[in-house]
Parts: sequence; C-alpha cells; structure tokens
Amino acid sequence: MNKEQLVESARKMKNRAYVPYSKFPVGAALLLKDGTVINGVNVENVSFGATNCAERTAIFTAIANGYKKGDFQAIAVSGDTMDFLPPCSICRQVLAEFCLPDMPVYLTNEKKDILEITLRELLPYAFTDLEM
Ligand code: THU
Repeated sequence: MNKEQLVESARKMKNRAYVPYSKFPVGAALLLKDGTVINGVNVENVSFGATNCAERTAIFTAIANGYKKGDFQAIAVSGDTMDFLPPCSICRQVLAEFCLPDMPVYLTNEKKDILEITLRELLPYAFTDLEM
C-alpha cells in the first residue's frame, strides 16, 4: 500500500464519522507493518469532552486487535479542510506512546495534496517514559 492509497482510505472513512455537533468529519487510516489497514473516525458526544478523534479511534482499535508498540508503519489523516489537517495534541501524545519517532504521518487537504512529515516533526521533545 502506497501513501496515496492510505490517504484515500482515510478520505473514504469520513462519511462514517459521527459529528452531529462540529459537522467536522475526520478519517484516519493506520498502516500496520503486516500490511493491515485499520481505520478510525471521530466520534462525538453531547458531552463534548467525551469526543474521540479519528486518529485515536484507529490506534485504540489496533491495540484492541492485538497490535503492539512498534507494529505501526504510517498513518494518514483526512478532513475537508483547505489546509493540511494535523492530529490534535492529545492524538500526537497517543501516537508517541505506540509509534516510533521516524514513522511517516501523511496529512492531506480538500485538494488531495499530501504533506509527509514524521511523528518527531509533529511532536518534537515528546514526553515518553524517561528514566529516573
Ligand atoms: N478531530 C479529529 O478527529 N482529529 C484531529 O486531528 C482534529 C480534530 C475531531 C474532533 C472533533 O470531533 C472535530 O474534529 C472538531 O474538533
């Protein structure tokens, strides 16, 4: 699976997003090292803070399916935005928990341009399990 296909997978997911409050659908596609793709969408709640972003939905689904830290190859995120849609800060921290700093993150926009960056670029100086 190439990055265009992964981005397309994220894009297609958006119609499954549950976004009655923000009307801001987001789709994510997570590529595992074994070639599996696990998708996620944002799932909102009337108690807004209970909302789960698309990226976290994908990561948590992968963990629930038995995948482990280090099994992740890339993630693509898609929204209907003019600018590239980056993961929120909570999702960056969750990505840092399970994915290596060099992992590619593919951001896209409504024009289908793709910006490829690494998790390290997205979250420099990430808080991890530092030694004491
Ligand atoms: N959202 C995501 O799903 N991923 C992001 O990277 C940014 C924000 C969702 C949360 C909420 O449902 C909506 O987008 C508006 O913030």
